Amino acid sequence: MTNTELVEETITFVKETLQHAEGGHDWFHIQRVFNNSILIAKSEKVDLLVISLGALLHDIADAKFHDGNESIGPKMAKTFLESMEVDKKTIHHVINVINHISYKNSLEKGKKKRFNSLELQVVQDADRLDAIGAIGIARAFNYGGFKNRAMYDPAISPNLKMTKSEYKKSDAPTINHFYEKLLLLKDKMNTETGRQLALQRHQYMLDFLEQFYKEWDPLEVREI
Ligand code: ADP
Ligand code: NI
Repeated sequence: MTNTELVEETITFVKETLQHAEGGHDWFHIQRVFNNSILIAKSEKVDLLVISLGALLHDIADAKFHDGNESIGPKMAKTFLESMEVDKKTIHHVINVINHISYKNSLEKGKKKRFNSLELQVVQDADRLDAIGAIGIARAFNYGGFKNRAMYDPAISPNLKMTKSEYKKSDAPTINHFYEKLLLLKDKMNTETGRQLALQRHQYMLDFLEQFYKEWDPLEVREI
């Protein structure tokens, strides 16, 4: 099988698997991450097959929707790649990408030698880009709606000077998520292309928040 055929087969598999996925984690999220990965990869010397397969398979079974079980996705991906007779080295690398891409895992402490590769960094940047900017805003409110959360509550209104524990409450309004995560992502980008794209998207979120607060209460000037 050629690499192009393998990628096509993987696309079909991922589309089928994600048929009933929630809107923020559906096939179109995968497609955007895939496209942005390829875009970022143009400026890097990387293994394009690992990037393509990593991007396509990175959210195949999100732990949030599988009782917090983080091993289901990588296991499904491995079984699929083995069934496609992909070489062991590529499978190993792709599974490492999937296992280490998430924001939570990237903050994980206590492990001395964490896996890292330029391929992981590229797909991670593409995944982070999809959490910010116009798409990121849409995904956040979509996820908040899915969880039945308020959009915003002035009584527990966050700002950039607060510490994480002050705005991180499990059922906090969706606006709080911007401060907990989305506004921090621009400083976590790995590649130069990713950083440039993130800066534009970051500014778009700041503009959004400014407008949001203005519309929420035109009589109160509120700092971001
Ligand atoms: P990752 O891609 O790092 O695994 P998640 O799966 O946690 O990120 O999040 C996927 C999408 O859902 C992102 O767009 C993220 O901003 C959004 N999301 C996650 N948690 C929340 C939350 N508490 N409120 C609003 N949106 C959220
Ligand atoms: Ni993702």
